[in-house]
Amino acid sequence: MDLFEKLLQDKGPLGQHAYIDDNFYMFPKLEGEIKPRMTFKGKEVLTWSLNNYLGLANHPEIRKVDADAAAEWGLGYPMGARMMTGNSVHHEQLERELADFVSKEDAMLLNFGYQGIMSVIDALVDRKDVIVYDAEDHACIIDGLRMHMGKRFVYPHNDIDNLQKQLVRAEKLTKETGGGILVITEGVFGMSGNMGNLKDIVALKEKFNFRLLVDDAHGFGTMGASGAGAGEEQGVQDGIDIYFSTFAKSMASIGAFIAGEKTIIDHLRYNVRSQIFAKSLPMPLVIGNLKRLELLRSKPELKENLWKVVNAIQTGFKENGFNIGTTQSPVTPVFLHGDGGLYEAANMVKDLRNNMNIFCSMIVYPVVPKGVIMLRIIPTAVHTQDDVTETIEAFKNIKGKLAAGEYRKAGVEGAIVHN
Ligand SMILES: Cc1ncc(COP(=O)(O)O)c(C=O)c1O
Repeated sequence: MDLFEKLLQDKGPLGQHAYIDDNFYMFPKLEGEIKPRMTFKGKEVLTWSLNNYLGLANHPEIRKVDADAAAEWGLGYPMGARMMTGNSVHHEQLERELADFVSKEDAMLLNFGYQGIMSVIDALVDRKDVIVYDAEDHACIIDGLRMHMGKRFVYPHNDIDNLQKQLVRAEKLTKETGGGILVITEGVFGMSGNMGNLKDIVALKEKFNFRLLVDDAHGFGTMGASGAGAGEEQGVQDGIDIYFSTFAKSMASIGAFIAGEKTIIDHLRYNVRSQIFAKSLPMPLVIGNLKRLELLRSKPELKENLWKVVNAIQTGFKENGFNIGTTQSPVTPVFLHGDGGLYEAANMVKDLRNNMNIFCSMIVYPVVPKGVIMLRIIPTAVHTQDDVTETIEAFKNIKGKLAAGEYRKAGVEGAIVHN
């Protein structure tokens, strides 16, 4: 069979939905400056779908530093991989400052979070070792596991009793192979918004010998007294052996890092293949990330503002009878009941975007159970109380229409035509 023909027969879990698209659900184009009010298909929408938690994407000081650094350095410098010709004092400075910020001895930059953490996992384990991981870990961790030649055991999301069982199995196996154990969880889970149960996981180190890798993409900058993340929030930062975060969320940039004890970070510098064999981060990103980190440290009001908005919208949803699940972070899922499948959910989101000018992400089966439509709200430090009020009103409106079955009918204004 022709390879391309085969591909087109099965377009994949997301590609199969392309038929209802007109850059509306998939690959939408939000235009204008990154702020709560942006332009979508020519109309102003109130946007709740950007991980710009601290509002840094369009912060004037950041924009200026980014632009100045681009003018001074261009995107080329430094050319080559870090180990060869791609190093600079600024890259090293950013690593030192990141390590300090998350209270670790050393840090190492990664060009991207996704490829970076996959490669870190690859560098941490060999076929003798066992990985134990949370069932809801992000796709980048799952892809890291796919490269692992040894055993991996999964535990149901945050189920510590089950994690213990997996650790017993892992210990038995590693006694035979002579390998070690790596546990991987997230600091804040990006769908449910709940934190990885780091405190209990770290407590298991009393009983079992394992190392803990935490992907804190959504916790960095948003959780903990200083913004150092979910480990700081739960008082167990020391128990995290390898701390990971991307710059793609609170830092509103590109790149990522890991932090941990110096000997291990040094070891990883020579063994993380996605960094050894790739050009290093361009200078404007390094200078821009240094500035972002400075603002994280010097402007606690950014996180305070974020949490004001988080508390206002989460309280507003709860007071109005919405189910927002078990979130403990800014990530705010809103679970609605809708048995009408994708068609109904898509009609509802179209109404929300076209007629109420609210833009947020929709998540349906198989990510959530059948009959559930999840709308995900990402509050930021630059949203306002008015934005919150407007959104709760719009959600009350669509919830009522959903319950009345209005989104099952074709002909809702602006509704999709396909079924
Ligand atoms: C939990 C988590 N880890 C890793 C990543 C990947 O990071 P990046 O966007 O830097 O590739 C993401 C998404 O950005 C994420 O949500």
